[in-house]
Amino acid sequence: MFLRILNSNNIRKRLFGGLLLFVLSFIIYVNFNQNVKNCYFDITWKDGRTLRSVAENSRLESVVNPKNIFFHETSCSLDGIVKMNSRQACAVESAALMNPGHQVYVLFTSQVGFRNTTQLPIIDALLSYPNIHFNYLNLTQYAAHTPLAKWMKSQELFKSHYVNSHTSDILRYLSLWKYSGTYLDLDVVVLKSFDSINTNFAGAESNNFVAAGIINLENDSGHKIADMCVKDLLKNFNGADWGNNGPGVITRVCQEICHTKNVSEMITMNNCENFHVLPIESCYSIRWPEHIKFFKKEFLNETLQRLNHSIIAHVWNKHSAATPLNVNSNVAYINLAKRYCPKVVAVSEFF
Ligand SMILES: *[C@@H]1O[C@H](CO)[C@@H](O)[C@H](O)[C@H]1NC(C)=O
Ligand SMILES: *[C@@H]1O[C@H](CO)[C@@H](O)[C@H](O)[C@H]1NC(C)=O
Ligand SMILES: *[C@@H]1O[C@H](CO)[C@@H](O)[C@H](O)[C@H]1NC(C)=O
Ligand SMILES: *[C@@H]1O[C@H](CO)[C@@H](O)[C@H](O)[C@H]1NC(C)=O
Ligand SMILES: *[C@@H]1O[C@H](CO)[C@@H](O)[C@H](O)[C@H]1NC(C)=O
Ligand SMILES: *[C@@H]1O[C@H](CO)[C@@H](O)[C@H](O)[C@H]1NC(C)=O
Repeated sequence: MFLRILNSNNIRKRLFGGLLLFVLSFIIYVNFNQNVKNCYFDITWKDGRTLRSVAENSRLESVVNPKNIFFHETSCSLDGIVKMNSRQACAVESAALMNPGHQVYVLFTSQVGFRNTTQLPIIDALLSYPNIHFNYLNLTQYAAHTPLAKWMKSQELFKSHYVNSHTSDILRYLSLWKYSGTYLDLDVVVLKSFDSINTNFAGAESNNFVAAGIINLENDSGHKIADMCVKDLLKNFNGADWGNNGPGVITRVCQEICHTKNVSEMITMNNCENFHVLPIESCYSIRWPEHIKFFKKEFLNETLQRLNHSIIAHVWNKHSAATPLNVNSNVAYINLAKRYCPKVVAVSEFF
């Protein structure tokens, strides 16, 4: 009898402990997401350093322009200062350098800015290009008058397990829907002018996936695809699945317009409703399990040769960013950086 009471007390204690742990984790989880939301919406700076918003960028708002290039920086800034690391800046510079006739927009979801640019040599290097523009965007306003307006207001996005990453996923389709042009990830080096490529394209990453690191959508045919992507997001958004809302979206849309799930067949067809799925070598020649090949000198020749016919080099920062790289390293990434982002290289000691 006594033993049994002791036991059930123990059980109660454990149950209580478990419950407490659950409640605590829940509070921490909710708070974390609340922070992400706040960092996008609630922090404003009264000292005039905030970037102008997209809505104030007359160049962007006035016309739909196929010669737009978009980058989105969706990380949380709690100090309101524009930051980019050398690799991100290299992506932006290479896009602007290889496409002087295009306008390159770097859009921040956190309200960031700077008083003056003299303390940020990397940002100065970028802003020395007349076709690079930095703007802040307010998510609610950005989605207004699009199929995602109501969804964005519902704040479903902030329940995601990967808010920053999923915000970036959503914005790429939204920007192309609103303005048309080309979306690029911040962990690429652009190796070619987009003018030399058929319009309306994305790159195959494997036999099963079309990836979303570069997507070009132009003209009415492209807008139709953008519309399908945005509507796929509305229907299939899943905050618990990392890949579902980026590559998942363009892959499902390609399956529909190409009438096959076989990515090799999509590539062979070359034209699904005026949309082109490019072969793996075009954009993801070095796939993520091999990302180390960008950063080790024994792979220099192999890597450069495999990128010879590529439009971009995608360097998989999610897997590779932890290793700082000296600017004098004799590796493929630095070799490309010196050619395609010389101004960022000139002010960077490490990448
Ligand atoms: C973002 O836009 C919404 C809707 O217009 C507005 O209520 C909100 O105050 C804006 N947030 C910021 C930080 O400007
Ligand atoms: C701009 O930078 C210079 C040099 O660091 C500094 O002296 C000046 O106070 C800054 N201006 C503002 C408005 O912060
Ligand atoms: C859009 O561009 C593609 C590729 O250049 C072209 O084949 C297609 O006819 C165009 N579609 C429209 C509706 O203009
Ligand atoms: C995909 O299509 C290619 C080319 O038609 C074919 O060789 C391959 O076996 C197909 N793969 C699958 C999984 O069906
Ligand atoms: C790489 O290529 C260069 C010139 O193309 C050659 O001199 C060098 O020996 C090659 N290195 C390796 C490790 O193959
Ligand atoms: C790329 O290919 C061209 C020929 O198409 C060749 O001349 C050049 O050496 C190649 N470059 C590298 C780095 O392999």
